[in-house]
Amino acid sequence: MGRLPGAAFHQPVMVEEVVRALQVHDGGRYVDATVGTGGHAQAILEAAPRVRLLGLDVDPDALALARERLAPYGDRVVLRRASYTRLPTELARLGWEEVDGIVADLGVSSLQLDRPDRGFSFREAGPLDMRFDPEAPVTAAQLVNTLTEEALAEIFWKYGEERYARRIARAIVRARPLHTTRELADLVARVVPFQRPGFHPATRVFQALRIAVNRELENLERFLPLAIEALKPGGRLAVIAFHSLEDRIVKHVFKEEARGCVCPPSVPVCQCGRTPRVRIVKPFPMRPSEEEVRRNPRARSARLRVVERL
Ligand SMILES: C[S@@+](CC[C@H](N)C(=O)[O-])C[C@H]1O[C@@H](n2cnc3c(N)ncnc32)[C@H](O)[C@@H]1O
Repeated sequence: MGRLPGAAFHQPVMVEEVVRALQVHDGGRYVDATVGTGGHAQAILEAAPRVRLLGLDVDPDALALARERLAPYGDRVVLRRASYTRLPTELARLGWEEVDGIVADLGVSSLQLDRPDRGFSFREAGPLDMRFDPEAPVTAAQLVNTLTEEALAEIFWKYGEERYARRIARAIVRARPLHTTRELADLVARVVPFQRPGFHPATRVFQALRIAVNRELENLERFLPLAIEALKPGGRLAVIAFHSLEDRIVKHVFKEEARGCVCPPSVPVCQCGRTPRVRIVKPFPMRPSEEEVRRNPRARSARLRVVERL
């Protein structure tokens, strides 16, 4: 498939930090669980000779670009249209029992944001879609036009930490059906009383709907233990989160996996029998350099956490 009209490669975030964190080495097997347009994947393939890489994504447009970018690496790369929650199945298909490293770069890519027809952006007019996987069953329009006021408010509050969740949900229910990103963005702008300069008032509502449409937090919770399971001893998992909800999940799962035992403190002798599966490589998340944020403002909110399989 040729280059999509108007499509540009997404600028990958914290690439050097990811390659260093994964300790990419000669002949190693790696997974890019969110391959997107292939930026991190390419850096991993370039970092050492004979590296092999499995790249997953649910977005066929992103995969088409990744395929183009990674073509020079021939059969060292396998790209599959699959959710990262299917990691064990995809590894089994390849006959890879264990891997040396896995990266997941969460969230939306600029390829997706910049395509108005995908419906991710409040800055462009497009259908209220927001699906990473264009064949997934639920669109943002379906949520906005069918959920109760209470359910919408909960989404905006839980996934967007939106102060005016209730007020926005009420206005949506009164105004629906809503069909376009512009209609929704304008409605939110009319309803939100206080607007921070330089911050579009619909930012949080769009983030919340995107998370709900793609079940992002549930998927992340399922994925992290599967990824840890797939690592060989000494293998590493690097995850880049872009907002506090994601980062909280990554931090929590990593902590639990590093602690092992999940018995409540009141139980004097461990009953669960779980032992630590990972070591946390650094106690705090790594942040992009100021230079990177200047070059790529999207990197601003990135937080990279890394664990090593014991
Ligand atoms: C921030 S982008 C990754 C960009 C990539 N690192 C690059 O260098 O181009 C996140 C990607 O994750 C994909 N994605 C979202 N949910 C996914 C899932 N459950 N499984 C696999 N990929 C997913 C999105 O379609 C998107 O392409």
